[in-house]
Amino acid sequence: MIKTEGQDADIGRCREAVDAFVRAHGAAPKACVVTFGCQMNARDSEKLSGILLASGHELVETEDEADFVLYNTCTVRDNANQRVYGRLGVLNSLKKKKPYLKVALCGCMMQEQKVVEKIKKSYRFVDLIFGTHNIFEFARLLADMYESDGMVAEIWEGTDKIVEDLPVKRKYSYKSGVNIMFGCNNFCSYCIVPYVRGRERSREPKDILREIEALSEDGVSEIMLLGQNVNSYGKTLEHPMTFAELLREVEQIEGIRRIRFMTSHPKDLSDELIAVMRDSKKICRHLHLPLQAGSDRILKAMNRQYTKAQYLALVDRLKKEIPDIAITTDLIVGFPGETLADVEETIDVVRRVQYDNAFTFIYSKRTGTPAAAMENQVPEKIVREGFDKLLAVVQETAKERAALLQGKVMEALVEEVNEQDPALVTGRLSNNMLVHFKADKRLVGKYVMVVLDCCHGFYYTGRMVDWLGQSKHTRLGKMVDDQWLN
Ligand code: SAH
Ligand code: SF4
Ligand code: F3S
Repeated sequence: MIKTEGQDADIGRCREAVDAFVRAHGAAPKACVVTFGCQMNARDSEKLSGILLASGHELVETEDEADFVLYNTCTVRDNANQRVYGRLGVLNSLKKKKPYLKVALCGCMMQEQKVVEKIKKSYRFVDLIFGTHNIFEFARLLADMYESDGMVAEIWEGTDKIVEDLPVKRKYSYKSGVNIMFGCNNFCSYCIVPYVRGRERSREPKDILREIEALSEDGVSEIMLLGQNVNSYGKTLEHPMTFAELLREVEQIEGIRRIRFMTSHPKDLSDELIAVMRDSKKICRHLHLPLQAGSDRILKAMNRQYTKAQYLALVDRLKKEIPDIAITTDLIVGFPGETLADVEETIDVVRRVQYDNAFTFIYSKRTGTPAAAMENQVPEKIVREGFDKLLAVVQETAKERAALLQGKVMEALVEEVNEQDPALVTGRLSNNMLVHFKADKRLVGKYVMVVLDCCHGFYYTGRMVDWLGQSKHTRLGKMVDDQWLN
């Protein structure tokens, strides 16, 4: 672990640039951070936002109002890249109207050499580029950008560093992601993540626990432990520790009421972890367990290290020990050599497991991965046919699963005021499903009991009730009971 030495001096340099901006424009520079991709990037963006705030920027939501735009990019599938290029085109026109607009790019896309070459050649208006390994140097890079006329570009090929104690601006007051490890060593043959995020490194348990304690003191009650494969946590530590052991310690932290984690690789999911989940009052009844494909031949070519039978046996063990667990997954259609008969194997697993939700992706060829060099790429028409068939089954089973809870009373964490209807709030259940119901917006961040009146496939509408299941509306004649606002 290293500390952020020199950070204060770098933030000081940024502040000088910010002061100069204020003198020229009469207000602090407005910064907009746009995040693409996964929870890892979302957490990185909170750190980047923390540095922007610490150096005197104001944070805004949209590019239109911004003086500084930072795209934290993802490259897991080509459409993620295309979205960034599309938005860069818009920024180029914006910059013509507002020449002092600064544009920065970071994240996974920047770890690809061909992307950086393309930006340097065709997107020369970009002011700063950096990668995933040196985000902790953002303050220095930002200061360099303000002091320079040309493009500042610094990408590291890899790192074994873990940097602690960066300033963080959390998106939510009541919940937070917590990195427990970085990188990935699995090299699934289709996946670019190990190339852009580097080798697996676990944070020291004491640093993780200290961070969660501080979050709890700051009002956070739900945490999401983050890693590309949390089940292999701790293997590279000086004093190795399992993920299940880490969870036991996290469970002890007062004030933390819900614990989530992602992602679990099926090959490393231990019986010890299942037991810890079963016995825990805090670990949510939800497990994201990516299957990717159901055909053994394809799983082998994907280098996933498990078979269909092993995966199904694991799910059986999970359901036996934790009957109310919700299982979700990721599926890929169109991996090189995959036939419609192979997709039927995936469909068979979906029917047997009865996933509560599944993210279904079309295979995207990523340069540099072993699968990209495979000759038997699948024609688009076949991919589409398999994808549509799989999606229909995924939606059907998810709907069936969701319907099972209709009429039940469950605890929800109120997350936000509903975007469509401000009289409603949106709550998240332990199983990760959402429920919309009438409630006072002051309940955001609180736990309430809700009866799930109506299931709409992927979400519910409901009513707040008291802890005995009585409707608050009819019994009290008002929607909010003061006990919940304390
Ligand atoms: N570490 C996580 C996944 C991170 S990427 C895990 O192993 O579970 C998130 C998802 O993107 C993957 O689960 C996979 O389904 C999908 N994905 C990754 N590479 C892909 C590619 N080349 N084409 C299509 N989907 C891909
Ligand atoms: Fe990619 Fe596989 Fe690592 Fe997940 S486990 S990030 S799919 S290589
Ligand atoms: Fe994308 Fe990088 Fe996450 S490639 S999925 S943002 S680790």
